[in-house]
Amino acid sequence: MSDVKPQQAAQRQFGRQASCYAASRPHATGSSLQVMVSWARPAPADRVLDVATGTGFTAFAFAESAGGVVATDITINMLHEAQRLAADRGIRNIRFLQAAAEALPFRTASFDIATCRIAPHHFTSVPAFLREMRRILRPSGRLVLTDTSSPDDTDLYIWQHEVERLRDPSHVRSYTPSEWRRLVGDAGFMLEELTTSHRSELVFSEWMRTAGSPPEVVDTLRRRFIEASPEIRDAFRFREVDGDFHFSLMLVILLARPA
Ligand SMILES: C[S@@+](CC[C@H](N)C(=O)[O-])C[C@H]1O[C@@H](n2cnc3c(N)ncnc32)[C@H](O)[C@@H]1O
Repeated sequence: MSDVKPQQAAQRQFGRQASCYAASRPHATGSSLQVMVSWARPAPADRVLDVATGTGFTAFAFAESAGGVVATDITINMLHEAQRLAADRGIRNIRFLQAAAEALPFRTASFDIATCRIAPHHFTSVPAFLREMRRILRPSGRLVLTDTSSPDDTDLYIWQHEVERLRDPSHVRSYTPSEWRRLVGDAGFMLEELTTSHRSELVFSEWMRTAGSPPEVVDTLRRRFIEASPEIRDAFRFREVDGDFHFSLMLVILLARPA
């Protein structure tokens, strides 16, 4: 894995799993979508950029009220699935484009709203991505972002990191809420809202299927869940249901404006 760059790892991972992400319940639904829309308040005059759109669920939510959405992703198969879903839903105001989050092919100050959901933990450089979001936003613009986050506690952080890396080799790292505060400020934004009160609700077997983890990795991960300490079970809210693990990961949702 060490010689594979994060962008290539993401293209490999999401290129082969695109149809599974199109059917993924935690991506298609989830309270973070409503929070992002309610904080950004898209209006018919607004031009929205959704970065790392995946199979398009955030772009679809914003396209309901915004004038137009540009949805970008580094993986062409994910964009094809997003286009298919948009056509199925009769959505016509989204333009899809392949682009890396760290180098966006758009003019400075050309968008009113910039969004990114459940993706920065894959990026090569979150500072470069945030600088690009700052650059493409108009002075009156707003950034709304959701990502899986990590607790500050070292043991919990390491458990989550190792589980996520084993499951999906394109996972780079999740950032703690305090890291997000610093990263957003360093990129020239003023943070207006940040909440950690929403979680990504997951079911172990579904989570493995979406990532397409091979059987030996699924076995290793199942053992990690079975052998997890009471602190880990508590922090990630484990529940055993019909021989499967239900659990959740903390989300960071934030709203920021150009400083
Ligand atoms: C979990 S999916 C995104 C989910 C989507 N935003 C949603 O709300 O349903 C993560 C996406 O990040 C994309 N990605 C990973 N690294 C990227 C990068 N450096 N630049 C752009 N997209 C990237 C992957 O191709 C994948 O489609």
